[in-house]
Amino acid sequence: MGMNLRLRGKVAVITGAASGVGESIARSFAREGAKVVVVDIEVDRGNQLVEEINEPNPRHALFVEADVTRDDDSAWMLKAAVEHFGGLDILVNNASAWHPRKSMLEVSEAEYDRMFAVNVKAIFLAARHAVPLFEQRGSGSILNIGSTAGLRPRAGMAWYSASKGAVLSATKAMALELAPRKVRVNAINPVLGEYRHFQDFLEGEDTPERRTQFMATIPLGRLTKPEDVANAAVYLASDEASFVTGVHFEVDGGRCI
Ligand SMILES: NC(=O)c1ccc[n+]([C@@H]2O[C@H](COP(=O)([O-])OP(=O)(O)OC[C@H]3O[C@@H](n4cnc5c(N)ncnc54)[C@H](O)[C@@H]3O)[C@@H](O)[C@H]2O)c1
Repeated sequence: MGMNLRLRGKVAVITGAASGVGESIARSFAREGAKVVVVDIEVDRGNQLVEEINEPNPRHALFVEADVTRDDDSAWMLKAAVEHFGGLDILVNNASAWHPRKSMLEVSEAEYDRMFAVNVKAIFLAARHAVPLFEQRGSGSILNIGSTAGLRPRAGMAWYSASKGAVLSATKAMALELAPRKVRVNAINPVLGEYRHFQDFLEGEDTPERRTQFMATIPLGRLTKPEDVANAAVYLASDEASFVTGVHFEVDGGRCI
């Protein structure tokens, strides 16, 4: 291990970490010297990831099966950080729910409730268990994964966008209220990613024409890679960002300009 690991000695809990952006954040954090608690409802994928992380970096990762919308699960995932790794420094609220793009009038009540439970309520629940642990350490860092949808919605994602808007206002309010406790709270807003669910966010079939049309809305002309988000997350979670709190950090190729 090199001398300049940016998250050396830190303990992170990352929700929805069995795939996509969360998986990439877990791999990057471990590479930078952090101990990571991988939280997901997808048990097989979560265990597989933890095995892969622990292969070059033994005892850096732990899988915890937890549904972030349940208060007792939320308490358990944070307690696991203390029991296995001795404390908590970083909480990444990344787990998310959405629906395939459709009219706001066609979104079911169950879909609406699920999105607000996973995307918003989970942050509220986790904060109540995490803040006392940050206080024991004397500081902490919370990263909420938002979306460009929360700042610059597209038609067909109304209530998902609204839930991400709530993530962003919560981020600022939490940052303000937790600053006296030296807990920083920031959000990262990725634009659409070129991986799972890409098609859910297009309007209709994934044709070359629709891709071209979509790409034209992103000035840098490509989609998000999970590593783009992970690189921003490493910075914001690290001590390099010790004076940064309450920001909405776009990783979106200029989409929100
Ligand atoms: N994919 C995109 O294009 C995109 C764009 C902007 C923002 N985002 C945001 O990035 C984050 C990660 O998205 P992703 O694309 O990697 O999605 P993903 O589906 O690959 O990963 C989300 C993970 O969350 C887990 N999860 C869902 N509900 C859960 C629950 N109740 N408890 C615990 N885990 C749960 C899933 O099992 C999954 O592993 C989300 O917050 C998403 O809104 C994604």
